[in-house]
Amino acid sequence: MTFLQFPGGFQWGAATAAYQIEGAYNEDDRGLSIWDTFSHQPGTIERGENGDVACDHYHRYRDDVELMAQLGLQTYRFSVSWSRVQPWGYGAINEKGLAFYDRLVDALLEKNIQPAVTLYHWDLPQGLQDLGGWANRDTAERFGEYAALMFERLGDRVTRWITLNEPIVFTLMGHLTGRMAPGIRDIRIAARAIHHALLAHGRAVAAFRASGRAGEIGITNANTSYEPADDRPETQQAVELARDFDSRLFHGPVFGRGYPGSVLRYYESKGAPFPIEDGDMEAIAAPIDFLGVNLYSRARIEPAPERGVGYRTAAPTLPLLPMGYEAAPHALGDFVRWVSKEYGNPRIYITENGVCDNTEPGPDGAIDDHVRIDLLRGFLVGLHGAIEEGADVRAYYQWSLLDNFEWAYGYRMRFGMVYTDFETQARIPKRSAAWYSEVIRRNGVELID
Ligand code: FCB
Repeated sequence: MTFLQFPGGFQWGAATAAYQIEGAYNEDDRGLSIWDTFSHQPGTIERGENGDVACDHYHRYRDDVELMAQLGLQTYRFSVSWSRVQPWGYGAINEKGLAFYDRLVDALLEKNIQPAVTLYHWDLPQGLQDLGGWANRDTAERFGEYAALMFERLGDRVTRWITLNEPIVFTLMGHLTGRMAPGIRDIRIAARAIHHALLAHGRAVAAFRASGRAGEIGITNANTSYEPADDRPETQQAVELARDFDSRLFHGPVFGRGYPGSVLRYYESKGAPFPIEDGDMEAIAAPIDFLGVNLYSRARIEPAPERGVGYRTAAPTLPLLPMGYEAAPHALGDFVRWVSKEYGNPRIYITENGVCDNTEPGPDGAIDDHVRIDLLRGFLVGLHGAIEEGADVRAYYQWSLLDNFEWAYGYRMRFGMVYTDFETQARIPKRSAAWYSEVIRRNGVELID
């Protein structure tokens, strides 16, 4: 049996996001966010579900932290609901909302679990949406102020900060395809949202440095490992285009390389230029301390000269998981190798990686999510290989601690290592939770068990 040992000091954790688990959407003076508005509109979410209650984590956070401790988690990534701490997204501060995050951070630290805080995981205060949301440049300034507030209030105990989660998803799915909040379909608005989101990231990094707080700050992007569908040279070019429109669009500006030319030309040709002002690119390129990497799968790419972008995703060849992702465990190591090489070997935290496995409890009540275990193991084997080759990966956060509100899919898609019974709010650790505890305990992974 081969055991793959991770480097000493490597951290193991799990990730969640506020709207997906907290519930208590209208308690203690929380303001509404665009996800409340969106999910309350008929036809937006499967079966008309919403995050009003979700995992009721707002009330059950103590038990959930206890569960994390039992599982052996060393670090926990959660997000702050902006409208809970600033109901309109500007102006008034809600002390009751801040107190919740105070309690949560203290509970984690009591159990020796390092908090990693995401400032924005898609739930823009509705008050800011009413002023134009991410299409409005002022939103970036408001985000900088909100970030400063969080550094001031939690920065004595929280030392790991993530500005934005997956800007490509909330900008494009929120403003181009309309599958996510705020449900807009307009490429001109999408282009503005992209630039203002990146500017917001830059403002938050600047606010962190100005706060004088100790710790580290970075951004988390959504990633797919792109592979050529065949070995023609034009197919390799198509892969590079896919990387431009996805990876380089968000990593490029952050790492001081600016927007890819192909992307700028495309958006301009659609009458949707990025609203870049003097000084913006410098602000966005403020040095970060780590790169957050989220990765779930790969995509095969082929040329598509008839499409404006010049490429498309080819038909999948691997088995499909419930959300349509190809089961591609090699994708994590591959992407980490690519991004490390492309951007000069930055320090990396895998801020999300996981598997949707909708296994329900068996007759004995146990949840045997073996597909999840097999794929997670494969992801970790690949990650280990990338680290051996020199990638500077220091932590891994599994998505997710518990089954939760999976955005437009509602509660049908289960990504948790812990099963949530949404009727009773019972938490039942799945077989994969026991497996992961063992990975943590041994700081490594057995090739087969
Ligand atoms: C990511 C999101 C996260 C969760 C997983 C499955 O794109 O960041 O909130 O929905 O996908």
